Amino acid sequence: MRLVLVGPPGAGKGTQAEFIAAHLSVPKISTGDIFRANVSQATQLGLEAKRYMDAGGLVPDEVTINMVRGRLAEPDALDGFLLDGFPRTVPQAVALDKMLTDSGSTLDLVLELVVDNDEVIRRLSGRRTCRGCGKIWHVEFDAPKNEGVCDRCGKELYQRDDDKPETIAERLKVYARDTAPLIDYYGAQSKLVGIDAEGPVEDVTERAIDALRSYSA
Ligand code: AP5
Repeated sequence: MRLVLVGPPGAGKGTQAEFIAAHLSVPKISTGDIFRANVSQATQLGLEAKRYMDAGGLVPDEVTINMVRGRLAEPDALDGFLLDGFPRTVPQAVALDKMLTDSGSTLDLVLELVVDNDEVIRRLSGRRTCRGCGKIWHVEFDAPKNEGVCDRCGKELYQRDDDKPETIAERLKVYARDTAPLIDYYGAQSKLVGIDAEGPVEDVTERAIDALRSYSA
């Protein structure tokens, strides 16, 4: 299955992507994770992306599209994938459609995680991420047993640079301006399914998996 997760910053895309990708046995491809890995390795791509990420903006379409084109050509993504954080603009969505058409495939479904802005701010300001395995935690909603330490791999947890209040506000603005138009874009293709992404993580996962079942039925 070829699937896209869309939703505002902090909607829970990364959290749900892990469960949904495991359920579908497809790779989870997160453009945010790929950019962050490049930033921490100080690659050329990372140095370029960091300027935009720190300001709460988007990395230019051309850079992002080329990176995703390369990733989707890897063997593990040929039979299906879950994209988290891409596309994020209409030109990226058009480019993805073209990449898939050129390889004789198509996108199956787009799941939109629907959450209001107050909840997004609560989620982002308490988010912590593991430096070792990348697992996402929350100081209040999903806290590890020992503060600042990942239960899964024992490594240190950190707060993302772009989770500062002023950067969160800018990311929400950018989402409304550049990413929300994807809702109409995929709606017009009859590929969009909205999921209520409020409430416990397990409930949201169940709603997402129900939507996938209805699609496959
Ligand atoms: P990216 O990493 O994709 O950031 P984002 O879209 O802003 O999304 P987040 O990762 O902040 O949130 P999420 O929806 O994954 O939520 P999470 O599961 O962590 O991108 C970062 C930057 O990279 C962008 O700003 C941009 O600069 C650049 N970039 C990336 N892709 C790009 C593209 N295609 N084009 C251009 N630039 C691009 O959950 C958040 C918190 O809430 C966690 O603490 C979690 O534990 C908690 N939580 C999750 N679900 C629940 C729940 N149900 N109840 C309570 N708490 C919950």
